[in-house]
This record gives sequence, C-alpha cells and structure tokens, in this order.
Amino acid sequence: MLTLQSPEVVQETALRWKRETKIAFVPTMGCLHEGHLRLIRRAKELAPKVIVSIFVNPLQFGKGEDFEKYPRTLELDSESLEGLDVDLLFLPTREDLFPQSFSTAIHVDGLTTALCGEFRPGHFDGVATVCLKLFQITQADFAIFGEKDFQQLRMIQRLTADMNLPLTIVSHATVREEDGLALSSRNRYLTPEERAHATRLPESLKQVRATFQSHPEFPVEDILAPAREKLEGVGFKLDYLTIASARDLIPASGSTLAHTISEPRVFFAGRLGATRLIDNWSLAEEMT
Ligand code: PAF
Repeated sequence: MLTLQSPEVVQETALRWKRETKIAFVPTMGCLHEGHLRLIRRAKELAPKVIVSIFVNPLQFGKGEDFEKYPRTLELDSESLEGLDVDLLFLPTREDLFPQSFSTAIHVDGLTTALCGEFRPGHFDGVATVCLKLFQITQADFAIFGEKDFQQLRMIQRLTADMNLPLTIVSHATVREEDGLALSSRNRYLTPEERAHATRLPESLKQVRATFQSHPEFPVEDILAPAREKLEGVGFKLDYLTIASARDLIPASGSTLAHTISEPRVFFAGRLGATRLIDNWSLAEEMT
C-alpha cells in the first residue's frame, strides 16, 4: 500500500492509473471500524484500484464539537488497510488541504437545511467542500458512502449531479452491532452504562417502523411518540426524531398521515451523555 501525504502526488498517481483502469474511493476520518471496512470491500468489488483517505476535517466541526478529541488511531487504521490490500492511503495534513490562502466554500442548498443542518450550522458546507476536493485529487470513478449519514449521502449525490462530476456515488447499508446499534467512531465515547442504554435507539426506530407498517393511516406524531418516550426514558436528549421523505429530507408535520409520505424514513439525532448519535431507517423496508 502506498501512503502519500501530498495532494499533488496523489493526483498525479491517480491520473496515471486512470489511463488504464478505474478507481474507487472511500473518504474517512479514520478510527476505522467494520462499517468503514465494508465500504472498502465494496470499493474493491467496484474497481481494480482503491484509494482511502484519512483526514479529520476541521471545516465540518462546529464550535464546541469534538474536533480536538475525535479519536485518531492511525497505526491501527493503517494495518487494517494493508490487510484489505488497499492501493493508496491518502493522509493529508490540514495545511495540505486547507492552507491559509484557501478561500472556497461549497454549499448545497435544500437537502442540508433540515435535520442535522439545523443543529450543526456549517457542517454540511465543510463536508461538501472537503469531498469535492478529495474527488478532484483522487480522480475517483466511484465514491462509497454509508447510509448511516443519510443526509450527507443525499447531499453528495446532489453535489455530484449538480456539478456534473464524472463519478458515481455508491451507497452502502448501515452496518450495525448485534443489538442493532449503528457502528460509529463516536460509539467509543459511550460509558458502559450509556452503551447499554444505547440499544434503545435501534429498538425505538424498529418500533417506529413496525407501527408505520401496521398503521399507515396514523398521523406521524402518533407513530413517533412512544419511541420518543422510550428514548427520553433512558436519558437521550433528542435533537430530532422525525419522519421525512428520503427525496427532500423535509420533516413531516406531526399531523401528516404517514402513508402520504413518499420514500418515508425515520431520522434520529440526539445525545446520550456527551455523545451525539445519529441513525435513520427506511420505513418501507421489510421487517427483520
Ligand atoms: O463521513 C465522514 O467520515 C466524513 O464526513 C467524510 C465524508 C470523510 C468527510 O470528511
């Protein structure tokens, strides 16, 4: 595996590869877990060359968020990537990607307004800006994003279409622990007691899906209320628990009849202690 820091050298290498083959790319912030590894295995199915980036992007963290304490586990990450036979690990510094002179910001409107957009101002601009840069540098034909960050995925799809980027965005189902908790680098912040309570999150979202499927005629609030109560009961402080269409990500009002929402998904964000967790689930999907 090549490990490169310089954006220019990565771009030259990628341009050389592209004359003969395709490139699949997985952007990450490191602290790799099985969720990331599945994205990388998918990348390997899609193209003969695979590039992974590790960069904790300061642009997407707000004031008071966990940029400083975001877990950095480079040695272990590098070993996992070697084990998966990744071709190139791109490891830029902040100065490499965002030098003092950097003056551009990418804003994708609409899809980024609600849900996490409301609670993390500037977050999606930071993600869009770094991703566009990474796509340019890695010359990717495919980029793989997990559905756990569904709003991020939809925004990147929009950006790619709007800017006619010559790459395909490939989505990957959320990878979960045995009890259903979505894998996330932030799960390691949870105390053992919080981790035990966190199992209520997938349970509650499953409950929302079950009620949605058995009573599609119910108003949205009647479907969400028991789940909200369950989550608050174990100490979750909710930013939102809502149902929105996967098309526009605009939360339905509480009185909307559930069956009138197209491509319905339940979306959650909230804190358990100091840890912010997010998750989402398609409501049309079959029960497992
Ligand atoms: O999902 C993430 O880990 C980040 O938002 C990404 C896509 C690597 C951009 O920094």
